[in-house]
Amino acid sequence: MPLDSQTTTPWIQPTGGALGADVHGVDLLRDIDRATYEVLADAWAKHLVLRFSGQKLSDDDLMRFSRNWGELDRTPVGTAGQKVNGVAANAVEWIAVISNVKVEGKPIGGLGAYESVWHTDMSYNPLPPRASLLYALECPPSGGDTGFCNMELAYESLPADLKKAIQGKTCTHDSSRNSAGELRRGAKETTDPRETPGAHHPLVRKHPVTGRSALFLGRRVGAYIQGLPVEESETLLNALWAHASQPQFAWYQRWRMGDLMMWDNRNVMHRRDSFDDTARRLMHRTQIVGEPVLAG
Ligand code: OGA
Ligand code: MN
Repeated sequence: MPLDSQTTTPWIQPTGGALGADVHGVDLLRDIDRATYEVLADAWAKHLVLRFSGQKLSDDDLMRFSRNWGELDRTPVGTAGQKVNGVAANAVEWIAVISNVKVEGKPIGGLGAYESVWHTDMSYNPLPPRASLLYALECPPSGGDTGFCNMELAYESLPADLKKAIQGKTCTHDSSRNSAGELRRGAKETTDPRETPGAHHPLVRKHPVTGRSALFLGRRVGAYIQGLPVEESETLLNALWAHASQPQFAWYQRWRMGDLMMWDNRNVMHRRDSFDDTARRLMHRTQIVGEPVLAG
């Protein structure tokens, strides 16, 4: 049950990296009042990724806090919580389980223990989520760090010729593979990027709240820039990805139990390091329904 609402103003401590800030002094078991919400919303708009540490959340708590940021979105294919992994019946549609843990030989969640590539969550949908909130229930002693990439910085610092080359262009966001690049169950393998299934989105995306522009890439595999010969599209995409994947745009989260990471899925990409599969890593995630993608 929610306790009384917050009585103190949160403190915001930037990571000092390309993005991200710690939020101190907020107990997510309590309801967020208007003043607290404003502080968090401002910090989120400024830092794009927020970390709340030392939390102890049930799925209901995670869902309740997440709803401050919009309507919950359904989990992507292959990650929906099930009884076996302890997700309550009322939460299975909304809580994605990200874990390498197996019960009776079967994975209880998505992504295993391997590396995942830079990506935007569910951007292969016409309306990708606004945000994802990932909460750590169990962490390996090392490995499995999550990187976040500031795509506004990546856009601003793009060389003028690349900026010009993507102006007004759209790109395919592959729906046939997960963020580790694996073919999804039932998906057909394509070799010609012009035939990749998935949404087409503008390569320059305008943030609906702050109005700032970000490079919107989604994921590299299967991408195709509409209207270009395949070779030209590949060359341009390689140049954009080489630019965006530079370390100065990224900051890495080293997980501790009780950390909740909330990222803006409109202007941030993320990836994950692999980790030792004999260790346990268990995360529960919510995602927030997004708004139509604005070209910027
Ligand atoms: C995700 C994701 C990264 C991680 O939940 O969308 O990419 O660190 N997870 O597990
Ligand atoms: Mn992801």
